[in-house]
Amino acid sequence: MNLITTVSEMMAARERLPRPLGLVPTMGYLHEGHLTLARWARRDNQSVVTSIFVNPAQFGPSEDFASYPRDMERDLAMLRQEGVDTVFAPTVEEMYPQGFSTYVNVERVTDALEGARRPGHFRGVATVVTKLFTIVQPDRSYFGQKDGQQVAVIRRMTVDLALGTEIVVVPTVREADGLAMSSRNVYLTPAERQAAPMLYRALGRAREMYRDGVRDARALRQQVEGMIRAEPLATLDYVSVADAATLQELETVDRPAMVSLAVRFGRARLIDNVVIGQD
Ligand code: PAJ
Repeated sequence: MNLITTVSEMMAARERLPRPLGLVPTMGYLHEGHLTLARWARRDNQSVVTSIFVNPAQFGPSEDFASYPRDMERDLAMLRQEGVDTVFAPTVEEMYPQGFSTYVNVERVTDALEGARRPGHFRGVATVVTKLFTIVQPDRSYFGQKDGQQVAVIRRMTVDLALGTEIVVVPTVREADGLAMSSRNVYLTPAERQAAPMLYRALGRAREMYRDGVRDARALRQQVEGMIRAEPLATLDYVSVADAATLQELETVDRPAMVSLAVRFGRARLIDNVVIGQD
């Protein structure tokens, strides 16, 4: 496995790597969710590049950039095990050279949900992902449904800017009790960790209601909200039932929709979602 830390070396390496080439962008501190993306990429492609870069541009001033968990040695060992060919792990100076002034702004789909609560977050994501696509020029790029709005933003941007990579979306990988895997789960205390699977139970309840014929989006939101408000360790940020592509809130679930939520458990802010109405 080849570890590359500069943009110029990565651009040279991409020319030598057998095609098709799959890219798995990450911020490291890898878990089964990330490794599942790497496995899908390994299965579909001749070459796999995984990037590890904690992207300062997508963290707000009061967010956890400095304390975001990092363990490069462990990450490299895990990726070697998965048969990844190349790890691209640039420094901040390498990705944001002196005088950096160019950003990618995806409109509308970034207005609500995480975009509304984390100003500048998706500008940072869209900019770094565009730059990774430019440097690596992947045939396919792998993203997790766990970050549902991120998927919608990247799909929109890839079409709008003709970025020429196929976006492959991998279903959310969960712990045995349903908690979506996340690098930030390490922030949970044991009591919070025990309570956290209720997020997925609440989303599952909305999915059941949909299957039972409920199409009123407000009824679904209220059900999920009620379940979360009943958990003393949880502080609800939002529950949304929105068009899966545009993320506009729905009144009636008459098309594929994402039921999503953000909830604070102590230090950790957890997000999760399920998609309904696509079958
Ligand atoms: P990060 O949070 O490290 O996640 C990297 C990729 O792994 C994302 O596509 C994310 O959706 C996916 N992922 C995380 N947890 C998952 C889970 N439980 N199941 C399935 N997929 C999961 O998302 C980012 O980094 C950054 O925003 C990035 C795209 C790398 C840009 O900086």
